[in-house]
Amino acid sequence: MDALMHRTRRDGMGRGWLLILAALVFAIGLGSEVTVGQLLAQTASQAPDASLVAVDGDADAGAKVFRKCQACHSLEAGQNRVGPSLFGVVGREAGTAEGFKYSPVMQGSDVVWTPENLDAFLTNPREFMSGTRMVFPGLRDPEDRRDVIAYLNAQSAP
Ligand code: HEC
Repeated sequence: MDALMHRTRRDGMGRGWLLILAALVFAIGLGSEVTVGQLLAQTASQAPDASLVAVDGDADAGAKVFRKCQACHSLEAGQNRVGPSLFGVVGREAGTAEGFKYSPVMQGSDVVWTPENLDAFLTNPREFMSGTRMVFPGLRDPEDRRDVIAYLNAQSAP
């Protein structure tokens, strides 16, 4: 009887360990699910930015258009010329390239460079932002603007 109880208890303990093991496996499984969930959530939270920069232009054609900008702009991060570096400019707040001395109007504006705002700015910089120091007549052709915005966006991709 005593031996039987002993055995039963041992069996019980065995089952206990199994339960703990199962719980652990479950927890680990859950853990990795959380990770996958977080990854998915991250992807989802990046989606608005991605759609913000979803531009329908032709980046290759935009590379040619960008030659008109190159005298003043680099696409290297942190490399300012006559104009600020345009690395990552799509979606960025105007007047925020590190180390560039902007005009007061650009510095003080709260414009965000969405494709729409870029399009308006590049149509006629001084009409969009009276007082800007960007001395550029603008791109007349809407397709050129779309393409160069697509190029800026593609070049800024990590
Ligand atoms: C003659 C020089 C010059 C040319 C050419 C030029 N830019 Fe600029 N750009 C500037 C300057 C200077 C500024 C800063 C303006 C200010 O501070 O008001 C600027 C600012 C900008 C900004 C705002 C950047 C920011 O950090 O907020 C964008 C976007 C921009 N330029 C795009 C272009 C594109 C695209 C082209 C070609 C189609 C172009 N620029 C051609 C001189 C130039």
